[in-house]
Amino acid sequence: MSERVIPLVDQRLQTLSARLPAQPIPTTGLLNDALGRPLRDLRISVTDRCNFRCNYCMPKEVFDKNYTYLPHSALLTFEEITRLTQVFIAHGVRKVRLTGGEPLLRKNLETLVEQLAALRTLNGQPLDLTLTTNGSLLKRKAATLKAAGLQRVTVSLDGLDDAVFRRMNDVDFPVADVLEGIAAAQSAGLGPIKVNMVVKRGTNDDQILPMARHFRGSGIVLRFIEYMDVGATNGWRMDEVLPSAEVIQRLQQEWPLVPLEPAAPGETAERWGYAGPDGRHDPSLGEVGVISSVTQAFCRDCNRARLSTEGRLYLCLFAHQGHDLRSLLRGGASDAELASAIGAIWQGRRDRYSELRAFLPPENSGQGRRRIEMSYIGG
Ligand code: GTP
Ligand code: 5AD
Ligand code: SF4
Ligand code: SF4
Repeated sequence: MSERVIPLVDQRLQTLSARLPAQPIPTTGLLNDALGRPLRDLRISVTDRCNFRCNYCMPKEVFDKNYTYLPHSALLTFEEITRLTQVFIAHGVRKVRLTGGEPLLRKNLETLVEQLAALRTLNGQPLDLTLTTNGSLLKRKAATLKAAGLQRVTVSLDGLDDAVFRRMNDVDFPVADVLEGIAAAQSAGLGPIKVNMVVKRGTNDDQILPMARHFRGSGIVLRFIEYMDVGATNGWRMDEVLPSAEVIQRLQQEWPLVPLEPAAPGETAERWGYAGPDGRHDPSLGEVGVISSVTQAFCRDCNRARLSTEGRLYLCLFAHQGHDLRSLLRGGASDAELASAIGAIWQGRRDRYSELRAFLPPENSGQGRRRIEMSYIGG
């Protein structure tokens, strides 16, 4: 038995009300936060439930049958989500990611996808509309999601070996079903597909090479994520983090890799391309990515806002408080008022947790402090 102490988790107790600023804030699409960072990416959590119990995210000891999830009446409706998204777009958002928990557990999600797919950015373009999923329901839903207007998916997969994967998801879910889900997404045209693998030293780092071998040349982009100290329940320890530099080193012993330019400003992943015999990137072999929020923070360009299932706006993955937009919505605020409230919150944003982690006193870093859970706010 592990001896770690599991703090109480109820991020839902900690709310900031979203106030209307004295001066309206117009929607110019040029909104910047206090550190000069624009608002481009909105991540919307559509459920706080998941059918997996990955130990680094929803450990069974905490998320057991006594855990109370949000009641249905607390969740934003699809209409409320779509209305808020429109306001975020007016402030400059171009990319929307649906997350959870496991977003495919939300009933009729394709209806929300349809509504979001109909929105246009300030340049008149459709949103970059994507979804992060554990893949367990993808085989069943891929074609419907595509037809509803979803562009692409990112699938979480922490290993290829069935025993390792079953241990990671902790509900005995077989790896073959996720691979079938990925294949279904590929044939539905939900690409470019990305696969995210959280690496925990000593738990699944032996899966790095098999995963790379499997996805190399498949058209799917595999990304290795450093295990992070998100939330307050996963018992995070630095010695379980495998630095991305070491991941790249291990891969390079097998296949030559060359660094690639970032695909977009503020991107989380550092990209590496598989090289051909001439030493240059061979696009037919594809690329891998590393997401190094522990060893190389990327807060400087962080343009991501997060909307929780019940309508709270979080300014950082490591925040311990969210701003309650639902009360404004349900209290009859106009679009202009919503835009002013969101504008004021973003203008005040100074969050850069990953950059500060190393300098924080121990009680404020690692697992010391109550923070939102990844299962509640999504990746
Ligand atoms: P793409 O546009 O598909 O490349 O998405 P993305 O780069 O935003 O990546 P994705 O949403 O797949 O995020 C991958 C992982 O990176 C998440 O599961 C988190 O572990 C981590 N991550 C994403 N955003 C942040 C962030 O803002 N801060 C930190 N610290 N980690 C993040
Ligand atoms: N560290 C890094 N990534 C995490 N995720 C969840 N918890 C963590 C953590 N502690 C990410 C994974 C998962 C997605 C839903 O959230 O990428 O695939
Ligand atoms: Fe695992 Fe993702 Fe579910 Fe968390 S939300 S338990 S990481 S599948
Ligand atoms: Fe953005 Fe916070 Fe992640 Fe830094 S730690 S990149 S500010 S979400």
